[in-house]
Amino acid sequence: MSDIKKFFKKYIDAADVYSPGGILRVLYQQRQDWIRMMSNESPFEPSPRVVEAVEEAVHKVGWYYDSDFTDLREALANYTGFDKERILVGNGSTEILDMIFRGFINPGDEVILSDPTYPLYPIRIHVAGGKSIVVPKTLPNYYWDVKEIIKAITPRTKLVVIDSPCNPVGNTIAEKDIREILGQDVLVVLDEAYGEFADKQLTHLAREYENVIITRTLSKAFGLAALRIGYTIATPEIINYLTKIKIPFNVNYIAVQAAIAALSDKEYLKKVRNEIVKGREYLYKEISAINGLKAFPSQANFLLVKITKPNVTGTDLEWKLADKQVLTRKYSGKAGLEGEYIRITVRSMEENRKCVEALREIMREQ
Ligand SMILES: Cc1ncc(COP(=O)(O)O)c(C=O)c1O
Repeated sequence: MSDIKKFFKKYIDAADVYSPGGILRVLYQQRQDWIRMMSNESPFEPSPRVVEAVEEAVHKVGWYYDSDFTDLREALANYTGFDKERILVGNGSTEILDMIFRGFINPGDEVILSDPTYPLYPIRIHVAGGKSIVVPKTLPNYYWDVKEIIKAITPRTKLVVIDSPCNPVGNTIAEKDIREILGQDVLVVLDEAYGEFADKQLTHLAREYENVIITRTLSKAFGLAALRIGYTIATPEIINYLTKIKIPFNVNYIAVQAAIAALSDKEYLKKVRNEIVKGREYLYKEISAINGLKAFPSQANFLLVKITKPNVTGTDLEWKLADKQVLTRKYSGKAGLEGEYIRITVRSMEENRKCVEALREIMREQ
């Protein structure tokens, strides 16, 4: 065959491949005892109810079960307060986001993003044939520029994507601001992957607005990242439409049973939330006191940290921390961020303390 690439779609061939967790993820595979602060995962084992459900489910994997996941959608309805007709389940919220992009974007359509944001969005928008229109967030706190977002809406705009809390900044959008965007003739994806850690969530807006699509996940607060369970809340009309894009049995039986068990354990969720909020406050206070570092206030399970000392880069700090067995993620050079940054995931108090000690030592030596 002369040119196999002639069969490829050019715009897909030109897409980037998302690299989760950066270079240190690879290093971590050999160093399982190091402190894992680079991927915004839960530091806690899942609820014992999840372990029990998985052990039982593993004996029953020979069948095809319910492809509509009625039991899980009922459990999610109970958890969120929305009817199960308004909920669709995905293989992580990543799959849901992908279904939304594939479902609503025609080639050349525009999607408005606000950098800095979750770097996976523009990649998946590109693969769906769309064009990302980036409205930069405003300094010094990287808050959404709502006026500019509204100005950027054109007849080609299909979606506006807002992650609140935002990855990597950790801040949330004010309700009055998201209402302003929802007042426009456009679909708004509101990604609340870290919603459980925030003082205030915005999911309730789906009761009022037909054009909001909420995405949420069990990867973070419920600690099920490797099982891949996400969901969306939208109008029954949008859910029915997205169901046409969903492949049958998109979530495996073990994950479904684990998710139902996780959602039933309210005490577990309360405990995790309290621990993360406590750890987040601790990290914010201690990092803010270190000369040469500035932590951003966060409503998520991670903190963005700016390096204000000249000649110290995010790469330096990431590798020096790794020398002390603390794995974080460099954020310098990411779209929309000016200056040098690392992002640190909140972990157990013992691990948070080790991270702070390591940061103090490193910054003293700079
Ligand atoms: C803002 C945001 N949205 C969505 C996701 C995807 O999560 P999952 O596919 O595990 O549900 C992540 C993962 O880190 C994220 O940071």
